Amino acid sequence: MPHFRRVPSAPAAGPGRAAGEPSAVRAGQTGRVLPPIQVADAGDPRLADYVRLTDVHLRRSLEAAHGLFVAEGEKVIRRAIAAGYPMRSLLVTQDKVAGQADLIAGCPGPVYVIRPATAEALTGYRVHRGTLASMRRLPLPDVAGLLDSARRIVVLEDIVDHENVGAIFRCAAALGFDAVLLAPRCADPLYRRAVKVSMGAVFSVPYARLADWHGGLAGLRRAGFVVLALTPAADALPIEQAPAGGKLALLLGTEGDGLSARWLAAADERVRIPMSAGVDSLNVASAAAIACYLLGRGGLR
Ligand SMILES: C[S@@+](CC[C@H](N)C(=O)[O-])C[C@H]1O[C@@H](n2cnc3c(N)ncnc32)[C@H](O)[C@@H]1O
Repeated sequence: MPHFRRVPSAPAAGPGRAAGEPSAVRAGQTGRVLPPIQVADAGDPRLADYVRLTDVHLRRSLEAAHGLFVAEGEKVIRRAIAAGYPMRSLLVTQDKVAGQADLIAGCPGPVYVIRPATAEALTGYRVHRGTLASMRRLPLPDVAGLLDSARRIVVLEDIVDHENVGAIFRCAAALGFDAVLLAPRCADPLYRRAVKVSMGAVFSVPYARLADWHGGLAGLRRAGFVVLALTPAADALPIEQAPAGGKLALLLGTEGDGLSARWLAAADERVRIPMSAGVDSLNVASAAAIACYLLGRGGLR
């Protein structure tokens, strides 16, 4: 189902359309009335949604204030649209306009066309894929509803690295997990790097955020989940012996210190992926991949 409003077809040529304008005519043929807007200056306020995309602090406040996020690359943008996220605007570098006619035509908001060097000055990095979309956030489901409808979930406690968050969503999507639950301080799955690394899995795997870290795991129990805390600790149960039937919640801890003592103690079982001697832990996304594979759809039953 298309999630954008298609505007009626425009005539193929008309007043106000510059000769040789890169995509206005094509866009008109597929339904768009407004031609793309050429912007030369990285400081142009119309590009504010795309400013300093590598600055996590700025992005956090800007995206929260305006209820937006940025999706990068044609495939990921299409997945966001398919998942029902409305597009606010599109930004395309001049060299990529020709290949993006239908994405441009389907954008209900402004489409900005800029030079690659201007895109780099604006965003703070070289925009290889040449297409960025500013998308509107949707309200998150409530925790109780999410827990009701899921059988296998991953729970992330304060994971701060966006790429890890994105990679874990990708594992969950690929390996038979139904949902992700985030502790209050866990990094935002809709931050650009998380979206990109997840390859859009952040749009397809439902997620919710706990309001209460302290008592957060009690709700899992009430909803009938067996809670397994993943930890490299030597005295934890080897994952091959973990209970894997029924409703299962896998807890994953932060990159530095791992799971908090509170969450470790609140779990039904502490579970480890056995490692070679001398290695103290796996990267959290690697641990998630192994655990989701063993305990998910194709797992240890
Ligand atoms: C980099 S590790 C944290 C290491 C930390 N020193 C600790 O003791 O947990 C981040 C998370 O990945 C998961 N993890 C890493 N290695 C693991 C292993 N061998 N078995 C189970 N989980 C593991 C755990 O959830 C952990 O909290």
